[in-house]
Amino acid sequence: MKVFVTGGAGYVGSVCAEHLLDRGDEVTIFDNLSEGHRGAVDSRSTFIQGDLNDPKSISLAIATAAPDAVMHFAANALVGESMQNPYKYFHNNVYGGSNLLHAMVENGVRQIVFSSTCAIFGVPDVVPIDENTPKNPINPYGESKLMFEKILRWFHDIHGINFVSFRYFNVAGASQKLGENHRIETHLIPRVLNVPLGRSTHAEIYGTDFPTPDGTCIRDYIDVRDLAAAHLLALTVSKSDFYNLGTGGGTSVKEIIDSCRRVSNHPIPVLEKPRRAGDPPRLVAASKKAEKEIGWNPAFRNIDVIIESAWKWVVSHPNGYND
Ligand SMILES: NC(=O)c1ccc[n+]([C@@H]2O[C@H](COP(=O)([O-])OP(=O)(O)OC[C@H]3O[C@@H](n4cnc5c(N)ncnc54)[C@H](O)[C@@H]3O)[C@@H](O)[C@H]2O)c1
Repeated sequence: MKVFVTGGAGYVGSVCAEHLLDRGDEVTIFDNLSEGHRGAVDSRSTFIQGDLNDPKSISLAIATAAPDAVMHFAANALVGESMQNPYKYFHNNVYGGSNLLHAMVENGVRQIVFSSTCAIFGVPDVVPIDENTPKNPINPYGESKLMFEKILRWFHDIHGINFVSFRYFNVAGASQKLGENHRIETHLIPRVLNVPLGRSTHAEIYGTDFPTPDGTCIRDYIDVRDLAAAHLLALTVSKSDFYNLGTGGGTSVKEIIDSCRRVSNHPIPVLEKPRRAGDPPRLVAASKKAEKEIGWNPAFRNIDVIIESAWKWVVSHPNGYND
């Protein structure tokens, strides 16, 4: 297949592009490198440096690549930043995404896989979170992704665009070549691994009085390689739909830090801080629908194995992608 990957210089997009290339697909990566890295772009792909917010640029890129399908990873994805600068999030994630859909319509491209997020659910009353859980985002990031999901439905109804929208929970891990190197890192695992790498003196825990067994927040960690597998499967699905993707198991902040200690063989001192506003105690996915309907079955369910892959990558890339 010919697959057009927006955001393919970023963390998740680069690993998905690698999986597509490994199975022999032709891949065009479209990225403005605002957050991504040139070093994360697989040399077997065609790279176009462009911005979704420039309608001409995305239109020309889609016309040139003439893909069978699009995987849309490009977005801004920092919850805290979205609370400071909502314009950036609605502009890039909604307007930029709409430019992509318009370019697809103009060029007769009819299939898209979209990176949505568990942030569309806000603070759910019931956990595990399935696809019918009410969607009440509590920040502009989650709202922008929910808006794009609604836009997808309209483009399906009006223009016949087939979509699969994946609500990822917490992505972690690395492939052998590609890993997580966000310019501003807010994710727990890479931040904790910064301690054994010598980049931080301690890990921080926000809240130890949550109603969970050890008092710290529980999240659902999904390996980036399992996520890539889900995207490949999505290309075989004819139905347009929304799927939650996690492993269904929850891991607490303290358990993550313990796992990082085991994997890195470092004591990792911690500093306990008060809770952050809006942090739900437990966010875990019900992924039964994806398992049943697209045949997805995550291979990496052991947190030590996931963290080991992340650790190997950061140790072999002490300065990230160097750009
Ligand atoms: N990483 C996670 O834990 C997680 C969880 C849930 C959802 N997601 C979603 O998955 C997707 C990928 O996440 P990630 O962690 O790989 O993020 P990332 O920041 O590493 O990758 C996003 C890429 O998109 C590019 N980009 C952004 N705006 C662009 C634009 N206007 N034009 C062209 N390129 C643009 C960036 O340069 C970057 O390379 C995002 O849509 C994010 O919302 C990620």
